Amino acid sequence: MTKISSVTSVSNQENIIILADKKSNFVDIDFSKQELTYIKDCIAKKEQKRVTINQYKRVAHIAVIDEGKTVELTSEACRRAGSDLLAVLNADKINRITVMSALKNKDHLLAFAEGLALGNYQFLKYKKDKKKLAASLKSIRIQGKEVNTKDVARLNAALQGSLYARTLVNEPLWFLTATQLSKEIQKMGKESGFKVQVFSKSKIQSLRMGGLLAVNKGSIDPPTFTIMEWKPKGYKNKKPYVLVGKGVVFDTGGLSLKPTPKSMDFMKCDMGGAAAVAGAMYAVSKAKLPVHIIGLVPATDNRPSGNAYVPGDVITMHDGTFVEVLNTDAEGRLILADALSYAKRYKPELVIDLATLTGSSIAAIGTVGMVSMHEGAEKQHEKLRESGHHVHERLAELPFWDEYGEMIKSEIADIKNLGGPYGGSITAGKFLHHFTDYPWIHLDIAGPAFLDGRDSYRGIGGTGVGVRLLFDFFVNKV
Ligand code: BES
Ligand code: MG
Ligand code: ZN
Repeated sequence: MTKISSVTSVSNQENIIILADKKSNFVDIDFSKQELTYIKDCIAKKEQKRVTINQYKRVAHIAVIDEGKTVELTSEACRRAGSDLLAVLNADKINRITVMSALKNKDHLLAFAEGLALGNYQFLKYKKDKKKLAASLKSIRIQGKEVNTKDVARLNAALQGSLYARTLVNEPLWFLTATQLSKEIQKMGKESGFKVQVFSKSKIQSLRMGGLLAVNKGSIDPPTFTIMEWKPKGYKNKKPYVLVGKGVVFDTGGLSLKPTPKSMDFMKCDMGGAAAVAGAMYAVSKAKLPVHIIGLVPATDNRPSGNAYVPGDVITMHDGTFVEVLNTDAEGRLILADALSYAKRYKPELVIDLATLTGSSIAAIGTVGMVSMHEGAEKQHEKLRESGHHVHERLAELPFWDEYGEMIKSEIADIKNLGGPYGGSITAGKFLHHFTDYPWIHLDIAGPAFLDGRDSYRGIGGTGVGVRLLFDFFVNKV
């Protein structure tokens, strides 16, 4: 990871980036008169967004940031501007850069550094020439009186959590089976301080988690159920927050098999929710936020085989509900349902689940943001929506009317795992709701969890979406 630190002063031999707007005058920086005239000319007359001054002992880049419609959108412009500069920095083999700002808002400076660090992420594990391909930029320093060490520690924690989440998503099933996912979560817990407990298949059987076991039935690898807990001294909330993440390490669709191109081919991303929960637990504990949080990850792959569950099967869930399975590709809701009913034992303040749950959420809003639904958590949802704007992982709320609940009623069982032809994200949400009895928010991240083309600092492949969102939400609780 590209480390971010803060410094109070900068020598005139350090490569620097200065964030600026059209009115900035750069009095603090030792530019010559000619250089200043040149800079002003580039920014004011030529309307350049970037000006580079090659001084004898260093390079100075000026990044001109256009003010957005809101402060949050200006922050987003900063993240993108940071990521845009990476190509130049890495081509110049720059190792360390110091960012300073002529803008008023410290969030903009932090966002720019965040964009640099997130954009600089690479997944090189399966490249033979790792050394050659590795980005040269290793260290980002922020110079700004307003930025304190706590800001930087929090930024690094959220970054590292996001990047771990990306790597988990990028790992193929070849490596990341359910068992391996649990092991990776254990490693993250050791490093940042949260506790981890892993239930094996026999424990899952004794808990009668019929949804998780049904999805796992066609697999040759056992399922896992991972419980994370962060309960620091002096935590502020009486009742715990519970995070639940879908951990389908690969989704073939099962016997309701998916076609390969642009469908099954990227289904290693189907544990994006689990990655977000583990990444958020990492970030929160690394930053030592005084909040009591529990994370639950049911995990398995979903495969066809001689012993796979079939359409028409009726399965008994952890809470005793009978579910008629009409499509084995609607597996996420089955494993999540068991985790959601397991969560009841914590008497939670709020449960948030994150899942790459439905293609129909992508049909609705694409990969730009996530869709959300909630029950009994109006205010908390509003807070989460605000965090969404702050970190630019935005929530689009879908209606959650009773009629959608009617669509999952079954002839022969209590409910079925398939709704009607329309509103698929909502009927999936209604299915999950059946297993909750507490304030609850559901986030369908099928769109933004994985990108098949690079998008600025969000990168390509796993994005780590959800980690910065949840981290910001919990920062606002302390
Ligand atoms: N994992 C998929 C959803 C998905 C689609 C995630 C695209 C990421 C990108 C999920 O398990 C699934 O297969 N959903 C089905 C449900 C349907 C059978 C009711 C879908 O959305 O098509
Ligand atoms: Mg599926
Ligand atoms: Zn799935």
